Amino acid sequence: MVVGVLGAGTMGSGIVQVAAQNGHKVVLVDLNEQILKRSNDGLLKIMNRLVEKERITQDQADSTIANVSYSQDIHDFNECGFIIEAIVENIDVKSKVFTQLEKIAPKRCILASNTSSLSIASIGAALQDPSKIIGIHFFNPAPLMPLVEIIPAVQTSEETLNISRSLIDGWGKVTVLCKDTPGFIVNRVARPFYGEALRIYEEGIADFATIDWAMTSIGGFRMGPFTLMDYIGNDINYTVTETVFTAFYFDPRYKPSFTQKRHSEAGYLGRKSGRGYFDYREGAANPKPIEDAVVGQQIFDRILVMLINEAVDAVFLNIGSKDEIDLAMTKGVNYPKGLLKWADEIGLENVLLKLEAMFAEYGEDRYRPSPLMRRMVKNGERFFE
Ligand code: NAI
Repeated sequence: MVVGVLGAGTMGSGIVQVAAQNGHKVVLVDLNEQILKRSNDGLLKIMNRLVEKERITQDQADSTIANVSYSQDIHDFNECGFIIEAIVENIDVKSKVFTQLEKIAPKRCILASNTSSLSIASIGAALQDPSKIIGIHFFNPAPLMPLVEIIPAVQTSEETLNISRSLIDGWGKVTVLCKDTPGFIVNRVARPFYGEALRIYEEGIADFATIDWAMTSIGGFRMGPFTLMDYIGNDINYTVTETVFTAFYFDPRYKPSFTQKRHSEAGYLGRKSGRGYFDYREGAANPKPIEDAVVGQQIFDRILVMLINEAVDAVFLNIGSKDEIDLAMTKGVNYPKGLLKWADEIGLENVLLKLEAMFAEYGEDRYRPSPLMRRMVKNGERFFE
């Protein structure tokens, strides 16, 4: 099957590599010639590196490279059976493009979007036959991150869902099925990792370095929240938070942070601008964490119970199954453990106690425990045996 990828930026280029390495002929279309060239150069470089490291043979590299054709003309998608769109995150632009894609592509071609934050239903509304729409959400970098979220819209047919999922499974990815709701699974459940860390800082409990130290040294996370936000870019991370907050009708659980907004406004975007919560300029000295075990444990516990609450609520609202929600967080954002498994280990009753204590202390809806958590504690239930 010929696969089409629209948009040759970060995500499009990664998806092209995955599809081409899995033996598909791939047509990559972007409006911008320079970006297509950069994507082509990038693929050649990666293939060379993989051959040097003996991860793949020269023949495999050659056939992957030969599988990809580059074009500025969307009409070159006319033989595709599956098209993934990875262009700018804007509903008006995406709608126009999907209307065009439907006219150009063969009748049975599936039309997928890699959107992180728009609803798949709203993109599907641009189609004459919206049963062909689906969300296929890769994580950055697409060739390395195993997780792909599969999001059927209300209009999506069973056939579209089944073909899409088995295609992506066949590429060796771990797929999870999720509801067409803001942030899907990962970007919803992960919000407190950033939001609660920022809140702890704002309350003056600890500085950035200490919060990061607590989450990595005590919690076992690969990266602390502030280091991670500096990687992602404060502008991007802030926008995702704001979008999720708005899309959830301003549920206080997802409230963005002024600290992040100000960092973003100041141009302290993170690594890409040389400075974020930490200073990445040459010779810059960054503060050391205050390695106080008691404070560290409190910080970690507070962020962890907020994450668990979010994961439990996602089960409660059928955003995904309990297995898939745990898989999503370990395979999409490298959490050291699935949050629901973690809840079983700590004891759901202990998580509930901590949340209720915060809810009582702050009186903020942000700390309300999920009804499912209360119900399970009452019945003495666990997520897994
Ligand atoms: P990017 O800015 O790196 O690339 C977008 C590309 O689309 C650019 O090369 C641009 O020239 C091209 N483009 C824009 N409009 C076009 C059109 N009408 N026709 C053809 N090409 C067009 O963006 P990125 O980061 O790759 O994101 C793409 C999509 O993937 C967005 O919807 C984003 O929300 C989503 N996404 C991004 C992730 C990330 O970590 N960057 C992760 C998962 C999803």
